[in-house]
Order: sequence, then C-alpha cells, then structure tokens
Amino acid sequence: MSIGVEIIRGQAIQILGDTSRLNKLNIMTDSRKTVADGLFVPLSGHHFNGHRFLSQAIENGAVASLWMEREPLPDHLPEGFPLFLVADTLKALQSMAKAWLIHCRCKVAAVTGSNGKTTTKDMIYSILSRRFKAYKTQGNLNNHIGVPLTILAMPEDTEVLVLEMGMNHFGELTFLSQLAKPDIAVITNVGESHIEFLGSRAGIARAKLEITAGLKKRGALIIDGDEPLLTQIHTHAFQIITCGYEDHNDWKITGIKEGTEGYGFSLNHGIKEYRIPVLGKQNVKNAVLSLAVAKRLHVSSETIKEGLEHLSLTKMRFERVRGLHGSLLINDCYNASPSSMEASLETLKELPGFKRRVAVLGDMYELGSNEEKLHRGIARVLTAPLTHVVTIGDKGAWIAAPLLEKKEAAGRPEVHSFHDKTEARQFLAGLLDDQTVMLFKASRLMQLETLVSELSI
Ligand SMILES: Nc1ncnc2c1ncn2[C@@H]1O[C@H](COP(=O)(O)OP(=O)(O)OP(=O)(O)O)[C@@H](O)[C@H]1O
Ligand SMILES: [Mg+2]
Repeated sequence: MSIGVEIIRGQAIQILGDTSRLNKLNIMTDSRKTVADGLFVPLSGHHFNGHRFLSQAIENGAVASLWMEREPLPDHLPEGFPLFLVADTLKALQSMAKAWLIHCRCKVAAVTGSNGKTTTKDMIYSILSRRFKAYKTQGNLNNHIGVPLTILAMPEDTEVLVLEMGMNHFGELTFLSQLAKPDIAVITNVGESHIEFLGSRAGIARAKLEITAGLKKRGALIIDGDEPLLTQIHTHAFQIITCGYEDHNDWKITGIKEGTEGYGFSLNHGIKEYRIPVLGKQNVKNAVLSLAVAKRLHVSSETIKEGLEHLSLTKMRFERVRGLHGSLLINDCYNASPSSMEASLETLKELPGFKRRVAVLGDMYELGSNEEKLHRGIARVLTAPLTHVVTIGDKGAWIAAPLLEKKEAAGRPEVHSFHDKTEARQFLAGLLDDQTVMLFKASRLMQLETLVSELSI
C-alpha cells in the first residue's frame, strides 16, 4: 500500500534533502500513528497546523515530508531528511491521489446518498472482492481528505476501487467525482441530512447528482428508482439503471422474505433467490444497488449471491447485540437523520416474534431551522406494534411530543422522555426480557452505543 516517489516528486515546487534512497512511501497525515516508510503530509485547519508535528511524525516512521512553502523550514531535521515543498499540502494530497488512480488504471465505483453509503459500499466490496482485486473506503473516510487518502492507500494492483463519497454542501461531490472519475456512480437515496445547507429535498437530490460530474463517458449511474427526484433526469451521456420496489425499475425487488436474521428476495430478472444477513428493508434496496454495480462489471449471479450472503458490515449499522435477560438489542447508533430513523423504525416493527418492541430515540443534528418539525414528523411511524417509545435529549423529546398531544391514548406506544442517557438507563434495563427487542438510534454526537454496551451481556 505505497505510492511511487515519482508521483510525490511531481507535486513539488522544490525538493530539499536527499531523495535518492526513497522508494515507495506510505501516506501519513496523523503524526501520532506509526507508519513504516511514511510520507508525512502536514495538513492545516482552523485549529491546528500539522507542520508543528513533524518531529513526532519522524519518531513514528516518517522518512520524508511534504511541506507548505510558506511555512518556516523546520530546524533540527535529521541529516538529509527529504522535504517536498508544495504550494498547498491538501491540494498536493488530492493531486497525488489523481495521479495514483491514473497509474493504477483500476475501475472506480463511487457511492453517495443521504443514507446507506457505508452499507452499500461494504456490500459492493463484499461481492466484487470475490471476483476482482478490490479495495474500499475504510470506515467512513468519505470527504475531500478521506477520499484522496483512500485512493492513496490502495495497492498498486487494485482492479476495482469502491469509494464512499459524502457531502454537506453544493460543489463537494462535483469535486470528488472529478477527482476520482468513476466508471459507475451510485445514489442510494435522498433524505433530509444537511438540509440546512441544501435548502430542500430537491436541492439535496441536485447535490447528490453532482456525483455524475466526473462520471466517465459510457459510465453508469445506478439510483434508487423509487425516488422521483432522481428518476427525473434524462441524459445520453451515461446509462441510468434504476433499482427499487416499484414496477418501473430496471431491477425490481420481488418476493421479500423476512426472518429474524436477515432477508431473502428475488428480482424481476431470473429466478435466483438472494439472501442478506442483515435486517432492514432499506438494506434489501442497498443490496440490489450493489448487485446492479456487480452486473455492470459482468460478475455472475452466483458470485453476487455468495458475496451478499457473506457480508460483513461496518459496525453500528443495525447491528444485533445480545442484551440482558435474553433480550435483543439493535445498535443503529452510528448516526441518524429523519429518513434513516423512519427506515429503522419500520424494520423494528416488522421483526417477527417479539411481544415488546422498544424504540430508544435521541437527538438528530444538522437539520436546520426545520429541526423541530422534522423530529415531530417521526411520530407518524410510531405506531403499533411498537410498544414503547423512549426519547433521550431535548430534541429527542420532540419526536414523542405529537403522541402525548393526542387525546386518544389507546393503542399508541407508551412514551417516556429522558434528559440524558444516565437517567434512561435504569428504566430501559427494567424492560428487558427474552420477549423484548430494543432499537437505539440517534445522531453520532449522542453516542447512544454506550447505553447499548451497558445493557448488553
Ligand atoms: N437506503 C437507505 N434508506 C434509508 N435509510 C438507510 C438506507 N440504508 C441505510 N439506512 C440507514 O442509515 C443508517 C446509516 O447507514 P450508513 O452508515 O450505511 O449510511 P451513510 O450514508 O454511510 O452515513 P454517513 O453519512 O454518516 O456516512 C443505517 O443505520 C440505516 O438505519
Ligand atoms: Mg458513511
């Protein structure tokens, strides 16, 4: 996992020190992490300046460094230590990533969407890695720094790269797409995340479609075909492939079978039944988007089936955890937005075989001036067979408010609102038995997973 020195050299305005012994180098942006043969790339933000940490980086394995030309040169460097002077270290990192992609000549599949990017990326990788030398975004490194780092960490002989691309503002996906020049782009869905910056759902859809900005000629865009904001586009520049539950989709999901361990489903083309070992109807759609990517790369149905059955997903996405007293806990604490919260609640309602279904829901952030309305909107899906709704946090309390305002209490779930996790813990523990399933979901900042670990065995 190392990049060629010619590519690094190509970025430099000036080179100081001795580069003759450098061969391949591993990118290092965090000076605290140990890396063998590291090229330190000091990045600067509002609150930090990576250039201050060169000595630490050297202690941890840096054998060369990029250096912003306007920064004073470091003193006390090891004799001959190579510095590649550049105008801007971040831009140099991004340009190196572009050059490495061209050098490796791999196919690129890029995944965006309001929800389900990481899940779909992991699914695509699980399939493609059975047939190709594949590499994927590790965890969630999906922005203007994470995408170049992912590209630069990919081994030279990679055949297919699966990239997650995230965004908060207009223009960000255009940039990432033009950097990575995907052969295939995927949009998982359009939700409400980051609506404060993008104005409306239509704005969000437009921003997601920026993923086509760098899409290669004769590439393919694979989308959630049940979302009218996405199916509106018509173009000859690339092929559009739709996936979903509605009849008009190119890949139409038929015959869903739910179990407590996962789902089975079939498609309009062929009789094969696919299975995924994860819950959530949204994950069936994510699986079909992944299948469409694999089909586009001529992977056989049998390999796709195996890849989906042997998925291993990034943690805290509808993860099943054994709870106290024989209960089932569902750790979906990675993050939350209204659309992902609703999708998870629908799945909780559909799980077969539990008497008590408890939704533990917390604050959702970055929803802008409509945040109260968007929290209250969740109440519409808080219906039987849910038995308990437990909210945590001040914004979380809005979620349950419409239920409490209803005159008719009969048939609605029991509602409890707590200020924080510590207050809620005792109460939640009292609900757990072998007939209980309890879902935990909130924005990342809430770190609801600490509750999950306190209530698990
Ligand atoms: N297609 C989908 N539609 C709606 N919700 C989904 C979909 N796929 C997954 N989710 C929900 O979104 C949550 C987050 O999933 P995941 O981490 O894969 O999304 P992400 O887009 O990578 O998020 P982030 O923007 O934080 O990187 C999941 O726990 C699940 O509840
Ligand atoms: Mg993600």
